[in-house]
Amino acid sequence: MIAVIGGTGLTEPHFLNDLQIQQVSTPYDQQSVRVLLGSLDGKQVAFLPRHGHGHKVPPHKINYRANLWALQKVGVTAVIGINAVGGIHSETGPGRLAVPSQIIDYTWGREHTFFAEGLDAVTHIDFTQPYDANLRALLIDNAGTTALWPEGVYGCTQGPRLESAAEVQRLLRDGCDMIGMTGMPEAALARELGMAYACLALSVNWAAGLTDELITMEAIEKVLRAGIDEAVELLCRALRQYNLTKGQ
Ligand code: HPA
Repeated sequence: MIAVIGGTGLTEPHFLNDLQIQQVSTPYDQQSVRVLLGSLDGKQVAFLPRHGHGHKVPPHKINYRANLWALQKVGVTAVIGINAVGGIHSETGPGRLAVPSQIIDYTWGREHTFFAEGLDAVTHIDFTQPYDANLRALLIDNAGTTALWPEGVYGCTQGPRLESAAEVQRLLRDGCDMIGMTGMPEAALARELGMAYACLALSVNWAAGLTDELITMEAIEKVLRAGIDEAVELLCRALRQYNLTKGQ
């Protein structure tokens, strides 16, 4: 089964029918994870709001391990993460969608691996290509008339504050094209569990210092409201095609 992890702006799976709630317990939290199971044209799709029910958990406090574990437990083998980002590259201005191809991880202090305790042997996953090629192609091939940038380096910062202008300049020098706070460790944990993972990023602002304007939540929410429908339409086209795509 394929799952969607919804980020800021996509907290409810209104694009799915026949919704059922499943409370899944994991070894990573006392509380169970609330996974929604629904269908799209008869195809089963799971949905998980990344920031929890009611969108209350900030990026650095999200229990990424519990989220991914719970999805695997209900039978998920592929995940599309929807992430709001700040744009650095000219192709990632507010309202634009991208399917990044690479990641640089600047986060710290997050529980970022399943391979920490009780190991038979030290385990290292290959992360050369952090995103699954087939899932990325599924998104890119279903862009239709939507302007979608089919590449880019996603820099994952710790948050919850936004960056300073100098930090954005450093991210730019590092080769980042867009910045978000939730792409990691999610992508790596999916790889550790053997799940295919890709990111559909929606730019909601220019990164700090790239324009004269301050970044406000009001402005971000306005772009989100305007852009999320297009993202969901693309997502649904991709989900409908999912089984047809080779290797999935
Ligand atoms: N920086 C980091 N994360 C973000 C941004 C940003 O500018 N916009 C949305 N998520």
